[in-house]
Amino acid sequence: MPSSPRPVGVFDSGVGGLSVLRALQAQLPHEHFIYIADQAHVPYGSRGLHQVRGFATGITRYLLSQKAKAIVVACNTASAAALAHLRATFPHTPFIGMEPAVKPAAETTRTGVVGVLATPATFQGALYASVVERFAQGTRLLEDTCPGLVQRIESGDLEGPQTEAILRRALRPMLAQGMDTVVLGCTHYPFVIPLIERLAGPGVRVIDPAPAVARQTARVLARGRLLAPSAAAGRTCYFTTGTAPQRTAQQIARLLNLPAPPPVRRLQWQPDGALAQA
Ligand code: DGL
Repeated sequence: MPSSPRPVGVFDSGVGGLSVLRALQAQLPHEHFIYIADQAHVPYGSRGLHQVRGFATGITRYLLSQKAKAIVVACNTASAAALAHLRATFPHTPFIGMEPAVKPAAETTRTGVVGVLATPATFQGALYASVVERFAQGTRLLEDTCPGLVQRIESGDLEGPQTEAILRRALRPMLAQGMDTVVLGCTHYPFVIPLIERLAGPGVRVIDPAPAVARQTARVLARGRLLAPSAAAGRTCYFTTGTAPQRTAQQIARLLNLPAPPPVRRLQWQPDGALAQA
């Protein structure tokens, strides 16, 4: 009997990485995916980089125990905290990470003023500093951490008054300074693109990096001869470390426009920093 195809692991602190997963599913319809939402620890963005690195390492070990052939770190914060460490610790596994899309923004802005929305941890990390150093010479970057926005999106509030107030406060000074491009440096934020577009107006381009990350994943799999056969029909298994998998299933159905909530299994953090099925 043929063995079942190896999955691609995808993880985030919560439901934000689903914005990357949907691009992966569209770009790679034959692949199997395992998605892990570390909702026991969401939000990552206000935590120390060292702590987030520990979570990312534990999740990676679990994904490898499930025979993941590649891992997409669908979280800017975890990428900032852990990508280099993961690549050094697991040298035989290809990792695809997120970095704020400052490069395409700097290439296309007409006013030279670009807004970047990301978590405090992402702004602190060396990855962001290196992206700014390499690509943003001559571009003015206006940064905002949108406090509370990840929690609003986790709670399902994509357009209510509190979510709108957070974004209005962030965007208003950027618009006043001539910003014409917004970089979404947190994978939760694509779920509020309609609201951002309404608040920012038609003259502002909003950059969601997910399609580019999905294309990069396809290239990495092809290079490693890891692509699933084109006869295979891809499927996704969902896990949460949170305590309410049924609620997570409803969040997934809503955010991915599924006809019904998918099965979601629970994982539990162990005292030694490992993950195990609950
Ligand atoms: N979605 C994540 C990111 O891209 C994490 C947000 C959070 O947990 O603070 O940064």
